[in-house]
Amino acid sequence: MESFFVFYMSFYSILFHFLVFNEATPWARRHCQQITKGYDCNDMDLQSIPDEIPNSVQILQFSFNYLPALYNSTFQRLKSLRSLDVTRCSITFIYEDVFTYQPHLEVLLLTGNPLVFIASTAFSGPLALKYLSLVQSKIKQLSDIPSENLAYLEVLDLRGSNIRSLNGLSNFRWQNLKSLQLDLNFIDRISFNDLQPFSNLAGVSISFKGNDFIYIEPGAFHSLNLSSLDFSGCLNKMNISSLLKGLEGIKTNRLNLGLYETDSNVYIASAALQSFCNIFVSDLDFQLQHFLDLNNSTFHCLEGLKKLDLTRAHLNALPLNTTGLSTLSHLILDENQFKDVCQSNTRNFPMLTHLSISGNLKKLTFSNRCLDSLGLLEELDLSVSLVNPREPCCNNQLFGLGELKLLNLSYGSPMFWSSKPFNVTPKLEHLDFSHSVYTLLNDSSPFSNLQSLRTLNLSWSNTDLTNVHLFVGLKALQHLNLRGNAIQGEVLTQTELFKCVPLLETLVLSACKITSFDENLFKGLRHLNHIDLSENKFVKLSTSGFYSLDFLKLNFARNDITTVDVASVADLGEEGSVDLSYNPLVCNCSNFEFIHWVKKNKVKVKHLMETFCNGTGTRIIDAKLQCDLPVGVLVFCAVLAAVLLASAIFLLIRRVRKYSIYTNL
Ligand SMILES: *[C@@H]1O[C@H](CO)[C@@H](O)[C@H](O)[C@H]1NC(C)=O
Ligand SMILES: *[C@@H]1O[C@H](CO)[C@@H](O)[C@H](O)[C@H]1NC(C)=O
Ligand SMILES: *[C@@H]1O[C@H](CO)[C@@H](O)[C@H](O)[C@H]1NC(C)=O
Ligand SMILES: *[C@@H]1O[C@H](CO)[C@@H](O)[C@H](O)[C@H]1NC(C)=O
Ligand SMILES: *[C@@H]1O[C@H](CO)[C@@H](O)[C@H](O)[C@H]1NC(C)=O
Ligand SMILES: *[C@@H]1O[C@H](CO)[C@@H](O)[C@H](O)[C@H]1NC(C)=O
Ligand SMILES: *[C@@H]1O[C@H](CO)[C@@H](O)[C@H](O)[C@H]1NC(C)=O
Ligand SMILES: *[C@@H]1O[C@H](CO)[C@@H](O)[C@H](O)[C@H]1NC(C)=O
Ligand SMILES: *[C@@H]1O[C@H](CO)[C@@H](O)[C@H](O)[C@H]1NC(C)=O
Ligand SMILES: *[C@@H]1O[C@H](CO)[C@@H](O)[C@H](O)[C@H]1NC(C)=O
Ligand SMILES: *[C@@H]1O[C@H](CO)[C@@H](O)[C@H](O)[C@H]1NC(C)=O
Repeated sequence: MESFFVFYMSFYSILFHFLVFNEATPWARRHCQQITKGYDCNDMDLQSIPDEIPNSVQILQFSFNYLPALYNSTFQRLKSLRSLDVTRCSITFIYEDVFTYQPHLEVLLLTGNPLVFIASTAFSGPLALKYLSLVQSKIKQLSDIPSENLAYLEVLDLRGSNIRSLNGLSNFRWQNLKSLQLDLNFIDRISFNDLQPFSNLAGVSISFKGNDFIYIEPGAFHSLNLSSLDFSGCLNKMNISSLLKGLEGIKTNRLNLGLYETDSNVYIASAALQSFCNIFVSDLDFQLQHFLDLNNSTFHCLEGLKKLDLTRAHLNALPLNTTGLSTLSHLILDENQFKDVCQSNTRNFPMLTHLSISGNLKKLTFSNRCLDSLGLLEELDLSVSLVNPREPCCNNQLFGLGELKLLNLSYGSPMFWSSKPFNVTPKLEHLDFSHSVYTLLNDSSPFSNLQSLRTLNLSWSNTDLTNVHLFVGLKALQHLNLRGNAIQGEVLTQTELFKCVPLLETLVLSACKITSFDENLFKGLRHLNHIDLSENKFVKLSTSGFYSLDFLKLNFARNDITTVDVASVADLGEEGSVDLSYNPLVCNCSNFEFIHWVKKNKVKVKHLMETFCNGTGTRIIDAKLQCDLPVGVLVFCAVLAAVLLASAIFLLIRRVRKYSIYTNL
C-alpha cells in the first residue's frame, strides 16, 4: 500500500517540480523584487523609478542603476519613503527640492556617486533625516553639504571622500550626532576651534582613521566627551607626542592609536605617554606600534585604564614592576615575541579578567605559577602560540586561576598531563585543546573535577577513544569535539564512552576513520541534536543507534555511502536533518525510494546542492529515474483488480438472479 502511495505522490511531485521550475526562469530578473516594506531594484540598468514600484513604498534599494541627476520629479510620487539607497548610480547633480515630498525619509545612502553639485535645498523636505552616507562621493569640503535641513542627523558617513579640512563643521547642528566618520580623507590639521561644535555633546564616535595629519593644536580636544575616537593609521607625517598633546583634556571610552601594515614604523617614547595623565580613556589600542624605551613607568599615566590592546606591538616582555595599569581588566598581547608566559609579568594587573597571548611569534614556554596573582581571571587564551609547559601540565602552570572559565590551549606543543591536570581551575566552562597533543601520565579521567565544563574541544589531539573513563565527571558537558582522532580498529565499540556526559547536545566525530559504531553507543544521549560523522568511512547510513530523530541533525557528508534505506531517514522530525553531500550515491533504482524521499523532504536534507550522483555532475534531486513498480505495488494492484472483479461479478450475479426472479413471477 505504502509503495503504491509513494509512486502516486512521486508523479505529482515531479509534475509540480516541473511547473515551479518553469516559472523561475533565469532571465526573469526584469522586475524589482519585493522585500519587507519595500523593493530591491539593485543593478538593473534602470534610468528612472519603474512604474511597478507603488507610491506607498517605504524602503527602496536602487543601487547600481543610472541616475546622472536627481530632480524634484525623480522620487516625487514615493511619498512614504523612509530609506533610499542610490549607491553608485553615477549621480553628479542633486538639484533643488529632490525630497520635498518625502517627510519621513530617515536613511539616505549616496555612496560612491561622483557628486559635483548639491543644491542648497537638496535635503529640504525630510523632517528628520538621521543617516546620510556620502562615502566615496568626491565631496571636497564639508561646506559643500547643505546643512540647513540636517538638524536631526545621527550618522554622517564621509569615508573616502576628498575632504581636506574641518572647515564647515560649525554650519551643522549636531545635537543628535552619534557617529561622524571621516576615515581616509585628506585632513591634515585640527584646531581647537574646529571642534567647538562638539563641545556640548556626549557619547559621539568620531573616526579620523587613515588621515595623514601634520598638525593638531595642543588641547584641541580639550573637554570633549566622546564614546570613541579613532586615530589609527594617522601617524605617517606626525609624531605621537604631538597627537597626544592635541588629545589632552579629552574623555573618551575608546581610543584607537593603532597602525596598519602599510603604515611606516612608529616608535613611541615613554615621555610622549605622559600626556595620558590628562587623557581619560578606558579602552586603548596600540596595535602594531613600537615602544622605544619601555620601562616600569612607561604606562604610569594610564591609571584607570580597563582594556589595553598591544597586538603585534613588537614586545618580548612587559616591565617587571609596571606602575599605572592596576585597574586593567583586559590585556591583549597577541602576536608578540614572548619567550615565556611569565614575561607578561601579570603581577602588575591584579584586576585582570581576560588575558590573551595568542599567535605568539615564538614557541611560548609556560613556566610554573607566573599567573598566580590573577585570582579574578576568567579567560586565558594561549592559542596558536605552540604553548609549551615544560613540566607536566597544568596545575602548576595555572596555579591561582581559581575563577578561570575559558582556557584556550589550541595549537600548542605536545605535552604531558599530570593527574587531574585542571584541578586548580574547577570552574572551567570551556576548554579548547584543538591541535595540541597530550599524553596522560597516570590518570585515565583527567576531567573528573570539571563539573561546570560545557564545551570541550579535543579535535586533532591524538585522543585515545578506547579509554572509556576519559569523560568521567563531565556532568554538564554540552559540546564535544573529537574531530581528527583516529579510532583504532575503525569501529567504535566502547559503549561506556559517552555514558558520563548525559547532557551532550553536539558531538563531532568527523575525520576519525570510523566505519561503523555500536548500536548502543549514543543511545543514552537524550539531548543530542547535532552529530557530525562526516569524513569517515561509513558505507551505510545508520540511524537506529540514536535516542531520537525528532530534532537530530545528522552529518554524514564525505563518507562512502552508496545507497540509503529510506527507513533510516523516514523518522526524522521537523527539526531533524541529514547531510549526505559528497557521498558516492548511486542514482539507479536501488536508491529510487530514497531519492524520492529527498525530493519530498528538501528542507531535511542539508547541502542538497552538493549531493550528487556518484561520478556524474548530476544532483540527486535532478536525477531522472524510470523504475519499474516495486513488486509490492504490482501485488497490490493485482489484488485490487481481483477484488474489484470479484465484487463486480458478485453484483452482476445478484442482479441477474433478481431479474430472473422477477421474470419468473
Ligand atoms: C520642479 O522644479 C521646476 C523648476 O524649478 C518647477 O517648475 C516645478 O514646479 C517643480 N515641480 C515640483 C513638483 O515641485
Ligand atoms: C560624558 O558623557 C557620558 C554619557 O555619554 C556621561 O555619562 C558622562 O558623565 C560625561 N562625562 C563628562 C565628564 O561630562
Ligand atoms: C614631534 O614633532 C614636533 C613638531 O614637529 C616636534 O617639535 C617634536 O620635537 C617632535 N617630538 C619628538 C619626540 O620627536
Ligand atoms: C623610564 O624611561 C624614561 C625614558 O627613558 C626615563 O626618563 C625614566 O627615568 C625611566 N624610568 C625608570 C623608573 O627607570
Ligand atoms: C618590584 O617590586 C617589588 C615589591 O613591590 C620589589 O620587592 C622589587 O624589588 C621590585 N623590583 C624591581 C626590579 O624594581
Ligand atoms: C623601576 O625601576 C627602577 C630601576 O630600574 C627602580 O629603581 C624602581 O624602584 C622601579 N620602580 C618600581 C615601582 O618598581
Ligand atoms: C581558541 O583559539 C583558536 C585560535 O585562535 C580559535 O579559533 C578558537 O575559536 C578559540 N576557542 C575558543 C573556545 O574560543
Ligand atoms: C602517578 O604516578 C606517579 C609516579 O609514577 C605516582 O607517584 C603517583 O602516585 C601517581 N598518581 C596517581 C593518581 O596514580
Ligand atoms: C573547538 O570547538 C569549539 C566548540 O565547538 C569551538 O568554539 C572552537 O572554535 C574550536 N576550536 C578551534 C581551534 O577550532
Ligand atoms: C545500482 O548501482 C549499484 C552500483 O553501481 C549496483 O550495485 C546495483 O546493482 C544497481 N542497482 C540497480 C537496480 O541497477
Ligand atoms: C564513484 O565514481 C568514481 C568515479 O567515477 C568511481 O571510481 C567509483 O568506483 C564510484 N564509486 C562507487 C561506489 O560506485
